[in-house]
Amino acid sequence: MPDQPTLIFGLVALVGSGLAGVRPQVALGRRARARHNRGMAVVTPEGLARFRADGFLALEGVFDDAACDALRTRAAELVEAFDADSHRSIFTTDEQARRTDDYFLDSAERIHFFFEAEAFDEQGRLRQAKAQSINKIGHALHDLDPVFAAFSRAPAVAALVAAAGLPEPVLLQSMLIFKQPRIGGAVTCHQDSTFLHTVPERVLGLWVALEDATIDNGCLWVLPGGHREGLRSRFVRRARATHTVVLDPSPWDESKLVPVPAKKGTVILLDGLVPHASHANRSAVSRQAYTLHLISARDAYPDSNWLQRTTPARGFA
Ligand code: FE2
Repeated sequence: MPDQPTLIFGLVALVGSGLAGVRPQVALGRRARARHNRGMAVVTPEGLARFRADGFLALEGVFDDAACDALRTRAAELVEAFDADSHRSIFTTDEQARRTDDYFLDSAERIHFFFEAEAFDEQGRLRQAKAQSINKIGHALHDLDPVFAAFSRAPAVAALVAAAGLPEPVLLQSMLIFKQPRIGGAVTCHQDSTFLHTVPERVLGLWVALEDATIDNGCLWVLPGGHREGLRSRFVRRARATHTVVLDPSPWDESKLVPVPAKKGTVILLDGLVPHASHANRSAVSRQAYTLHLISARDAYPDSNWLQRTTPARGFA
């Protein structure tokens, strides 16, 4: 971050251990608040050390309410324009249920819509309104939609990615995750590098809370330090089919997962190797989040990745 000489003022709320989850937020000084108000995000040296040690880092107040609301409004417009009868792919991290259909594979460079697993009744009809039935939108929002593109390439995002130490970053994948009230599905414990594999293994995730994420509505749970245990499996593509290759069958100690509640506007940095999960949302409120996944242009990106592009992924320029 050569243009950020005073990096010691934090927007830092770091995750500790146990049910307390989040350590007290470091108070913002006047200069830091001024920087905050310009939409810039800063990682302290302490924060960077924690990110490297834990594999994740929660940063409060990176985006203001208006920025979060603009994304949610745009997502609602996209859903409204989507013909719910045209495609009924359901998203899940369970391979048996993951549809390796063309609609999923083609979402690499498009904006596609994936339903919650519980969205339909036995007759295949939506149980509730379309707007409350979509699990997520992906995976090229950051390139194709002007509102998402501006958000994804905001200076605050570029600064965070630089601070996290990813050289020559390119934005590969984006998702708007709704975690709908009452039917928002659980996401089983996984590593993002299972789905986006580079050589060397280096993926950076940004998880942006567009609403308050709580234990009740399905916040992230992360295994601190789990990124040092290696990659457990890979989701491999061959032509138009996909399958999972188990590299290490040993289970994670999920009793060590810690909740990461996140206020609206928080960004959680995730090492691609850190295991994380979220519970189903049985509450009455949604838990919308926007995620970005970046890789380095310096690293190899094998054609065995499910996400294949016909045009190169771009950075922040
Ligand atoms: Fe993930």
